[in-house]
Amino acid sequence: MRITGKTLLFSEEAIRRRVQELAAEIDAVYGDEGLVVVGVLKGACLFMADLVRALHIPRVELDFVRLSSYGNGLRSSGEIVFSKDVETALEGRHVLVVEDIVDSGRSMAFLLASLASRKARSVRLAVLVDKRERREVAVTADFTGFVTDGGFLVGYGLDFAEQYRQLPAIYALHCEET
Ligand code: PRP
Repeated sequence: MRITGKTLLFSEEAIRRRVQELAAEIDAVYGDEGLVVVGVLKGACLFMADLVRALHIPRVELDFVRLSSYGNGLRSSGEIVFSKDVETALEGRHVLVVEDIVDSGRSMAFLLASLASRKARSVRLAVLVDKRERREVAVTADFTGFVTDGGFLVGYGLDFAEQYRQLPAIYALHCEET
C-alpha cells in the first residue's frame, strides 16, 4: 500500500475545543470524588495528556494499559490480551478509560469487561474518535469527542506503521494498493 496524501479531518483547534468540552463533562460527573484515569498505549497518549490537563477535579491518578492481539504467528486469533496492565488496585475506585479511537470495538469490550471485574466503583470510557463503520462489538462511550464513519485516520496519537502520531491534528490518509 502506498500513501498518496492526507486530508484534514479534525483540526488542532477543533480538537482543543472538543477536549475542553469533554473535560467539563467529566468534571461535572465526578465532582470531588477521586478518579483513576487509565490511558490505552500508545494511541491515547496525546489525548490523555491534553484531557487531564483540562480537568478541574482535584483528585486524579494516572495509569496505563497496553493491549495486543494474541496470535499464533501465522494468523491472529483476534483474542485481546494485556501486554501491560495497570499498576493501581481498582477495587472501589472510579475508573475512566481514555482511548484515542474505537473501531471494531474489540479492544474496548475486552478492557472494559476486565476492569469492571476488578470491582471498580465505576468504569467509564472517554474516546476521542468513535469510528462506527467496522464495529463488530457494541461499545458505548460515556464521553465522545467525534463520531466518524470511515477512513484510515492518523495524527494526534493515531498511527500508520508507527508514523504520524506526533501530528497535532487528525487526518484521513489516501492510500493506493501497490
Ligand atoms: C488501536 C487504537 C485502539 C484500537 C481500536 O490501537 O489505539 O486501541 O486499535 O481498535 P478496535 O476497536 O478495532 O479494537 P493499536 O492496537 O493500533 O495500538 P496503538 O494504540 O499502539 O496504535
